[in-house]
Amino acid sequence: MKMDTQICKIDSQNIDTTIIAAAGETIKRGGLVAFPTETVYGLGGDAFNAESSGKIYAAKGRPSDNPLIVHISNIKDLDRVAKNISPMAEKLAERFWPGPLTMIFEKQPEVPKTTTGGLDTVAVRFPSDEVAKAFIEAAGGFVAAPSANISGKPSPTNGKYVVQDMDGRIDMILYGDDARIGLESTIVDMTSAVPMILRPGYITKEMLEEVIGEVEVDKTLLDADCKTAPKAPGMKYRHYAPEGQLAIVEGESEAVITYINSRLAEDRNAGVKSGVIATDQSIGRYEADVVYSAGDSNCREDVAHRLFTILRRFDDEKVQHIYSESFDDDGLGTAVMNRLLKAAGHNIIKL
Ligand code: TXA
Ligand code: MG
Repeated sequence: MKMDTQICKIDSQNIDTTIIAAAGETIKRGGLVAFPTETVYGLGGDAFNAESSGKIYAAKGRPSDNPLIVHISNIKDLDRVAKNISPMAEKLAERFWPGPLTMIFEKQPEVPKTTTGGLDTVAVRFPSDEVAKAFIEAAGGFVAAPSANISGKPSPTNGKYVVQDMDGRIDMILYGDDARIGLESTIVDMTSAVPMILRPGYITKEMLEEVIGEVEVDKTLLDADCKTAPKAPGMKYRHYAPEGQLAIVEGESEAVITYINSRLAEDRNAGVKSGVIATDQSIGRYEADVVYSAGDSNCREDVAHRLFTILRRFDDEKVQHIYSESFDDDGLGTAVMNRLLKAAGHNIIKL
């Protein structure tokens, strides 16, 4: 059934409190509201309302064993949803909240299992975006939200892509600024003795270790064969994928450029629309229908910030074959390569 979705432009420099209050009321009534955060846009419902969480899965077309993140707007609210919060978790919260970090805890019984995908644990994040904070507070303080995309598509980094996916499916869209980071939060499981990264993100392993010492990484994340299921249920699904076929080409940079250009020539002859994810350094070297630069090849922030937006643009332009250069996978590059590999269904060509 198609719903009438209210699309409300919102200025983060001058937040319209009437709109925020209406959005908060919508959540309290059991409705769904998409909202900006510093990572990607979220699709929010009342975290304590099992029916709202059910509606989120339906709107996204998301499998219901894939848990949602509970968003809070005050550290003091953490123990309303989580229990056995360790001193290490407190240190991380103090250092990185509000911000792009999600932590997993044992859940309080009041959090419905619909919200946590049937698990006894709960993921919690306190975003730093001003609109997000105001909205969560107006909604009563506990907003369950996945990224605001149709399941399987790249997470939306701007209001336009939220409208593309969610118009007609939810009550309201808070259409604000483009996401500052552009990549989802780092997820850390705090229930194990040594905390474990389940999804790499803007907060890197090194940044976490500086605060709490040793942190493990879920080994399945960068494993091309993917034989074992990752610990974050959502990481097992085909994800972030553009409509076109994406291949990552890895090798020495001149060899990569030559190889991609030869594939582009084949595509041209076959009448296939093709595109390239290049860098500022290599963008002029390709003869493709569509070429986007992911930024300066030495700046991982650039690449992280642009990746999802670029994947969506290829869809807008109906590109059928996409070739991407490979990026270094240290620091923030771990998150970039994790998303890119998933978007490509692990289709990697090693030269
Ligand atoms: O930056 C973000 O985290 C964005 C914004 C909107 O906050 N949200 C986001 O949510 O990316 P979503 O639903 O697209 O991704 C949440 C991930 C999924 O992979 C899910 O499986 C995992 O978090 N997750 C949630 N609760 C979990 C839990 N209790 N145990 C393990 N993984 C969990
Ligand atoms: Mg998502």
